[in-house]
Amino acid sequence: MNPFNCIAEDVKLGEGVRLSKFINLYGCEIGDETKIGAFVEIQKNAKVGSRCKVSSHTFICEGVTIEDNVFIGHGVTFTNDSYPRATTAAGELQTEADWKIEPTVIRKGASIGSGATILPNLEIGENAIVGAGAVVTKSVPANAVVAGNPAKILRHVEQQTPSDQNGAPVPFLDLVTPHLELENELIHVFRQGLRTAHFVGGPAVENFEEAFAAFCEVKHSIAVSSGTDALRFAIMACGVQPGDVVITVPNTFIATTEAISQAHAIPEFVDVDEQTYNLSVLMLERYLEKQCVRDKSGRLVSLRSGRPVTAVIPVHLYGQMADMDPILDLAERYNLVVIEDACQSHGADYFSKKNGRWMKAGTMGKASAFSFYPGKNLGACGEGGAVTTNDAIIAEKIKCVRDHGQIKKYYHDIEGYNGRLDAIQAAILHAKLPHVPAWNALRRERAAEYNQLLSGEEAIRIPHEPEWSRGVYHLYVVRTNNREEMINHLKKAGIGTGIHYPVPLHLQKAYISLSYNPGDFPVTESVTPEILSLPMFPQLTARQQARVVHEIVSFAREIASKPPQLIETTLA
Ligand SMILES: Cc1ncc(COP(=O)(O)O)c(C=O)c1O
Repeated sequence: MNPFNCIAEDVKLGEGVRLSKFINLYGCEIGDETKIGAFVEIQKNAKVGSRCKVSSHTFICEGVTIEDNVFIGHGVTFTNDSYPRATTAAGELQTEADWKIEPTVIRKGASIGSGATILPNLEIGENAIVGAGAVVTKSVPANAVVAGNPAKILRHVEQQTPSDQNGAPVPFLDLVTPHLELENELIHVFRQGLRTAHFVGGPAVENFEEAFAAFCEVKHSIAVSSGTDALRFAIMACGVQPGDVVITVPNTFIATTEAISQAHAIPEFVDVDEQTYNLSVLMLERYLEKQCVRDKSGRLVSLRSGRPVTAVIPVHLYGQMADMDPILDLAERYNLVVIEDACQSHGADYFSKKNGRWMKAGTMGKASAFSFYPGKNLGACGEGGAVTTNDAIIAEKIKCVRDHGQIKKYYHDIEGYNGRLDAIQAAILHAKLPHVPAWNALRRERAAEYNQLLSGEEAIRIPHEPEWSRGVYHLYVVRTNNREEMINHLKKAGIGTGIHYPVPLHLQKAYISLSYNPGDFPVTESVTPEILSLPMFPQLTARQQARVVHEIVSFAREIASKPPQLIETTLA
C-alpha cells in the first residue's frame, strides 16, 4: 500500500482498484477496477461502484452511492445535510449524532464535470451529464445534460435506441420516455401524496399555482380540472352573459366552442390567417365592421344571431400565439373581452410592439386557459388545466366557481362546479414544470431542423413563424396536396402522423344548429384537407427525425416525378 495514503481497515476495496497518492478512505466501499485520483476523500458508508473514475481532489461524503461506470471530474463536492450547523441550539459543537444524512445516488454511466457541487437528497439519472462547475440542487433525469447554478437541463444525450434503427417505428408522440426519465421524481411525488393524503386542494395545488404563475409571468394562476373547464370558467368570470356571442376560429379543437356553449354563450366564427392558421386580424375587423351593428344602447350586436357580441377567444394553435397587439386594439375599439385559449402554448412568446417587449402566452388577455392534458407541452398524468389572469377579482371568481361556488366551506354564493385539480396531479405538474423551458427549447430545435431539411421541397409547405412569434411547437404542422397518400406512405414506414383538425368546427354535425355552410370560411376550408402534423416531442432523436424527413422527401419526389394524369388516377 502507498505510504502517503490513509486507507482505514474497514474499507472494502474490490479487485483491481487503482489508487493514486494522498487518498483518505474510511468505512467506504469501492467496486472492481475503479480508479481513484490524488487527494480524494471518501467517507464512511459511501459506496463507489465498479469501473468508475474518480478524479483528484474530489470529496465523497457519507450517504453518497455511486453506481458502476460513473465518471467524476476533479474537485467535485458532495454534501449530505441540507441544513448543516456548527453548533447545537445550546451552543455546543455539533457531534455526528446531530448530523442528518440525506442520501444521494449517482446512477450508472453518469458523468459529473470538474468543480461541480451536488446537493443532498437527489438522484442523478443513468447516463446523465453534469457540466463543469454546475450546482445541482434537484434530481437530474436519465440522459439529461445539465449545467449552471442552479443546474438546468440543456438537452438530452443522443442515444441509439431500438427505434433509431432503420425501419424501426417513429411514434407521432412519445409519452413514455419523458416519464421514464422522471420516474423516480414522480414516484416520490406520488408517495408524498399517499403519505399526506392531501388529495384535493392544499399546499400541493397552491404551490403549483404559484410556480405556474411565475412561469407564465402573470399574477394569478388558478388550477382547475381541465383546459375545457379553464376556458368555461374564464368566460364566466370575465362577465360573458348567457346568450352573448363569443367570437373564435373554426380551426381549433372543439373544446374551445364547447366551453363557450357550456358558459351558455353562442360561438360565432371568424376565419384564420393563411400563413399562421390562427385568428385573422383582417377577418376579425371585417366581421366586426360588416357583420355586427350597434343597437340603440350602443351595444355591439351580431347580425347573424341578433345577440350581443361581448368576447373574443384567439386560440394560440400548435404552440404559436395569435397576433395579439391588433386583436387587443380591435377588442378595445369594440369593447370586447379577450380570453386567450393558450391550451397548446405553454411558454410561447409574442413580441408586443405596443409594450416594447416579449410577452408570454396567458398574460395578454383578461384571462387565459391552459390545458395539462398528458400530450401537452406541460402535461399531467391525467386531466388538468389552469386559468391565468392579472386581475385579482377574476382570480377570486374562478376559485369560487371551480369549487361549487363556495366562499368558505358549505357557504355557497352561487352554484358552481366540481372543477378542481387533484393535488397529486398538481404535484406532478410542479415536478415537471422546471423541465418545460428545456423541453420547449428542444421542440424549437427539432422544428428548426425540420424547417431546414424540408424547406427545399416544393410539395411541402413548412410552418410560418412571424418575427413577432417564438412558438413552442406543441405540434409541427406542414401542408401538402397529397396528404392521404403521404400518411399511408409514412404509416407503411412505421411513422406516426396526426391531423389537427380534419373537420372545421363550422362544418361539424354538432354545430348544424349554428347554420354555417361550406364556403363560409375559405382559408380554414382550404387548409383543413392539407395539414399534416409530423412527429414532434422533445425526446425525438436526430436519427428518428432524419428517417421521417427521408421518407417524406422520397415520397414527395416520387409524386413529383409522376405525370399529372397518373397522380389523378392515384387520387381517384
Ligand atoms: C386549443 C385547445 N383548447 C382547449 C382544449 C381543452 O383542453 P382539455 O382537453 O384539457 O379539456 C384543448 C385540448 O386539447 C385544445 O387543444
